[in-house]
Amino acid sequence: MKLPHPIQYQGSKRNLAAQILNYIPNDIDTLIEPFAGTAALSVAAATQKNIKKFSLNDLNQPLLNLLKLIIEKPEHIADFYETLWQQQHNDSVEHYYSVREEFNQTQDSRLFLYLLARCAKGAVRYNNQGEMNQSPDKRRKGTQPATMRKNIVGVSALLKGKCCYSSSDYKQVLKNIGNNDLVYFDPPYQGVCGNKDSRYFASINHAEFIVELEKLNQKNVLYLISYDGKTGSKQHGEKLPEFLDLKCLEINAGRSAQATLLGKQETTIESLYISPALRKRLSVVSIKPIQSSQMSFCYA
Ligand SMILES: C[S@@+](CC[C@H](N)C(=O)[O-])C[C@H]1O[C@@H](n2cnc3c(N)ncnc32)[C@H](O)[C@@H]1O
Repeated sequence: MKLPHPIQYQGSKRNLAAQILNYIPNDIDTLIEPFAGTAALSVAAATQKNIKKFSLNDLNQPLLNLLKLIIEKPEHIADFYETLWQQQHNDSVEHYYSVREEFNQTQDSRLFLYLLARCAKGAVRYNNQGEMNQSPDKRRKGTQPATMRKNIVGVSALLKGKCCYSSSDYKQVLKNIGNNDLVYFDPPYQGVCGNKDSRYFASINHAEFIVELEKLNQKNVLYLISYDGKTGSKQHGEKLPEFLDLKCLEINAGRSAQATLLGKQETTIESLYISPALRKRLSVVSIKPIQSSQMSFCYA
């Protein structure tokens, strides 16, 4: 499945979306992403499923606004990117730093797209003040404007007119979930970067997250969670507790980008948890099994 992808983003589920979609029934009313990031799963779902609406939330407001611009005003954001990209030629590194400074002052999402496309390792970083502080990639100039435009227009064609947007803490979007809605959680993982996670603008408290999941179980909410896993033999983070009665699948995510950044070659296994209500629903709906080499059960 070749999906349009304007934004490179750490933790994007673009490469795993096809596997995760196997656990989403075809006829969901709203697919809710409380940790939308680049909304890779919604983009993939829009190509294959008959989903009426998508609810996209991320606490990182410039990122969420960027997603909204891409979907709702594709030509505007593609034009803006092209103009900014063309301006870098005299001194590309200096240009990046001045755009970064302006972005940290204004939080203008259009500048953020350029920084995401142009930053080192394609990975944003934040300092303790919440400022974007990643350096530029000194060897590359960032995605060519024509390629960027194609990807932006592709995402917009799939999602325009079907989305609602918010930028709050994830708990806020769990208040109004319909019987036939499905929540896909992809929070920052616990174990990958230790206590201080500079990869994302914000994070979550693991214990609070468990309490929220318990509440959703009581309401029979359909949900899926991508959460931690392991790289090589190293387990990341604590598993979600058994009392939540989740089915945990292990998905082979391929070569670990994190390990690659550290100069190692290791495979990452990501956990995908299925809520009790969704499990019941899937057992009566025929779903396409994913290859056994890509998946195994951790516990039932
Ligand atoms: C692993 S990324 C999601 C990646 C996404 N699935 C994709 O395909 O691009 C986690 C996202 O959660 C957001 N986030 C962190 N803490 C949050 C919170 N408390 N509430 C809502 N979003 C939060 C981060 O800004 C980040 O974009």
